[in-house]
Amino acid sequence: MALGSKTVSILGCGNIGTAIVNGLVKSGVCKAEQTYVTKKSEEKLRPFLTRGFKATTNNIEAVKNTDILIVGVTPQQLDSLIEEINDVLDEKRHILLSVVSGASVRQIKSKISKNIPVVRVMPNTAIAIQESMTCISGNDEDKPAIDIAKTIFDQLGKSVVIKEELMVPATALCACGIAFFFRAISAASQGGIEIGFHAEDALFMAAQTAKGAAALIIENGAHPEGEVDKVTTPRGCTISGLNQMEHAGFSSSMIKGIVTSAEKAKHLYSDNE
Ligand SMILES: NC(=O)c1ccc[n+]([C@@H]2O[C@H](COP(=O)([O-])OP(=O)(O)OC[C@H]3O[C@@H](n4cnc5c(N)ncnc54)[C@H](OP(=O)(O)O)[C@@H]3O)[C@@H](O)[C@H]2O)c1
Repeated sequence: MALGSKTVSILGCGNIGTAIVNGLVKSGVCKAEQTYVTKKSEEKLRPFLTRGFKATTNNIEAVKNTDILIVGVTPQQLDSLIEEINDVLDEKRHILLSVVSGASVRQIKSKISKNIPVVRVMPNTAIAIQESMTCISGNDEDKPAIDIAKTIFDQLGKSVVIKEELMVPATALCACGIAFFFRAISAASQGGIEIGFHAEDALFMAAQTAKGAAALIIENGAHPEGEVDKVTTPRGCTISGLNQMEHAGFSSSMIKGIVTSAEKAKHLYSDNE
C-alpha cells in the first residue's frame, strides 16, 4: 500500500521512530526521499541523510512539507515539541499519530490550538521488519484518521483498534512485551549453552523454537496450554523442566512484570504535567 500523494514525517526519530520509518520504507508505504525524520542531534541524522531521507533538526520544515505527522519523542519531550509546531499545524492537511506512551488523545489535543485529528498508536520494535503488534485508538470524530493509521500499521505487522482506556495495558503487553520475550529467548539460549551448544547456535535454536510456538498459536489458532499438553509425556523430561520453572515462578514473574509495567506506563506522561 502506498499513501498516494500523502507524505509522512517522524518527529523525534529515536528507537521506535527508526523502527517505524524502516518498516514504512521496507513495506513500500513510503519512499525515503519523500519522508522527513527529525531529531535534536544533527550528527545522529547523518545515517538517514545517507539513506536518502529528508533528515533535519527543523520540525517546522518537516510539518510544513508533510501530511501525516508521527510523533516519536519521549513523554518528557512531548509538550515542547507540540509547542514548537503548533503554529504551522493545518486543520485541512495534518493528522497527528502519537506513539508517546501514556499521553492521552485528550491531553495531546489540549496542547494544540487547532482541531487536528489525533490518534494514539502503540507499536513495538518488530515494526522494523513488518511484524509489529500495534494498538490504535482515537476519538469517534477522528475515525477517518484512525482508518488511515490502521491502513498504515496493517502494512507493518498486525494492528487492532482498541478503546483508549486499554492503551496503557496495551503498552505493557505489546510494546514492553517484546522485551519480555527477548529476555525469555535469551534465557533459553543461556540454558542451551550450559547443556552443550555454542552461544550462536543456542540463540538461533531458541529463537526459532519461540517463533514456531508463536506461529502455532497465531496460524493454527491453538491454545498454548493445549500445545503444552501435546509435549508433556507423563514422567517425561518436558513436564519436569516446566514444573521446575513454575516452582521458580516463571508464569508468576511474567504476570507480575506485565502488571508492573502497566502501572508504570500509566504515569509516564501525567507525571510530567
Ligand atoms: N522503544 C520502543 O519500543 C517503543 C515502543 C512503543 C512506544 N514507544 C514510545 O515512543 C516514545 C519514544 O521512545 P524511544 O525509545 O524511541 O525514545 P528515544 O530513542 O529517546 O527517541 C526520542 C527521539 O526524539 C528526539 N527528539 C527529542 N526532542 C525532540 C525535538 N524537540 N524535536 C525533534 N526530535 C526530538 C530525540 O533526538 P536525539 O536522539 O537527537 O536526542 C530522539 O531521537 C516514548 O514515549 C516511548 O514510550 C517506544
